[in-house]
Amino acid sequence: MRPHSEKKWILPCEWASQPTIAPMTNHAPALSDSLVAAAHVLADVENGRSMTEAITHIPSELRPSTQALAFYAMRHWGLAKGLTGLLVQRAPPNAVVSALLGLSLVLLEAALQAAKGASMPGTPLYAVHTLVDQSVAATQTQRDLMSYQGMVNAVLRRFQRERDQLLAKLSTNLEARYNHPSWWVHRLRRAYPDQWQSILDVANTPPPLTLRVNRRRATVASAVDALTKQGLTCTLLDDFGLIVDQPRAITSLAGYQEGWWSVQDAGAQLAARLLDVKDGMRVLDACAAPGGKAAHLLELAAIELTAIDVDGARLERVQHNLKRLGLSTPALHLKAADASKTNTWWDKKPFDAILADVPCTASGIVRRHPDIRWLRQEKDIDRMAKLQREILNQLWQTLAPGGKLLLVTCSVFPQEGELLAAEFATQHEDAVRLPAPGQLLPVIRTVDNIQTDHDGFFYALFSRNA
Ligand SMILES: C[S@@+](CC[C@H](N)C(=O)[O-])C[C@H]1O[C@@H](n2cnc3c(N)ncnc32)[C@H](O)[C@@H]1O
Repeated sequence: MRPHSEKKWILPCEWASQPTIAPMTNHAPALSDSLVAAAHVLADVENGRSMTEAITHIPSELRPSTQALAFYAMRHWGLAKGLTGLLVQRAPPNAVVSALLGLSLVLLEAALQAAKGASMPGTPLYAVHTLVDQSVAATQTQRDLMSYQGMVNAVLRRFQRERDQLLAKLSTNLEARYNHPSWWVHRLRRAYPDQWQSILDVANTPPPLTLRVNRRRATVASAVDALTKQGLTCTLLDDFGLIVDQPRAITSLAGYQEGWWSVQDAGAQLAARLLDVKDGMRVLDACAAPGGKAAHLLELAAIELTAIDVDGARLERVQHNLKRLGLSTPALHLKAADASKTNTWWDKKPFDAILADVPCTASGIVRRHPDIRWLRQEKDIDRMAKLQREILNQLWQTLAPGGKLLLVTCSVFPQEGELLAAEFATQHEDAVRLPAPGQLLPVIRTVDNIQTDHDGFFYALFSRNA
């Protein structure tokens, strides 16, 4: 990819709505360069690579604008695929061109909607002619894309002419309508006959920037005060949670370096509190990386924490995060280890409390990771549930009599939630199920000025009979 040129400065609006991206500068890249970079990322996702990973391969000056475009595209990828299928007889052999077409088509649809006065917050908006010009120009930024110039131009112009008929043809196409794989839509519809559409709507909405205040270093009042001095406003969630109403790069926010807060969805903020840890307890976080819930446990009480994760590289992020928050104590033991193989890491001293935030399909957090829905396959649900069962069964042996184990998944599929918990309870006679939220569906709601805005999680709490 060539370095960005100083052509036209066009700023995607979604820059303001993604928590992890850099603030706008006066040196925004040309849209054609960002389009082609985003097309590379989208082609990578089609090829099975996560978007987080794919974006690291994009030159840093293009990353914020690329991320904004790629996030938007992933939230509209069902429509993108549906339209491309109707407009292109034979898919181009070049995966980047296919992705560029899909991306440009959904951006063009947004531009056409906006021209009629309808636009959704967080949508990257461009004038129709700019978008078509820049999409065509994008094919000229790389030698192997050049021969597709005419094709991209023709497809985008045909979409403009035939938009209504094309969209009508897709009206019964579940994937195009809900921007999730059709098996995913069917599964949700079966599990949640009354809520499946709102779950899908939330999944297609950009997430808020939610913070959890580190009570060892700050209070909600002091954090809000510092953020207000930066010209930001906040919505308070509870004693420790708040939403920054104008999301921006987290490293630019007051209190980041000082470790006053962590970024954590409000639904995830329940975990550590449910485990109700007390000073002196011996606690295990069995799937700890990147350390959001481990940090919260350490903020709540002076515990001895063993934090393990099978992924050594991810475990380094736990170390980094805890250091920033001032929570790296001698009573913290980090180990790269497999929770389902206790014989490789457990010292036979039972734990008083265990957090089992087990690996899952992550179907509850797709608004933060919109590529997940396209990367997963239906068979992953059973595969993950099997792994979750193995991990839970092993961890149970390490829990002290009278101790508590909290099962957490960030999934909305019952196989990774209630079905898993119910099966575990029937197979372990010494397990007593305690009150916990169960399935928390993703929601965005304001009632009586109280905002509820969180991702999807499952929580089940067990105590072990003495
Ligand atoms: C949902 S994430 C944990 C999030 C973390 N608790 C937090 O709050 O930041 C699941 C983690 O499980 C880890 N994992 C997957 N299989 C594992 C296994 N067999 N043993 C331990 N960790 C595992 C993954 O590497 C991943 O970091």
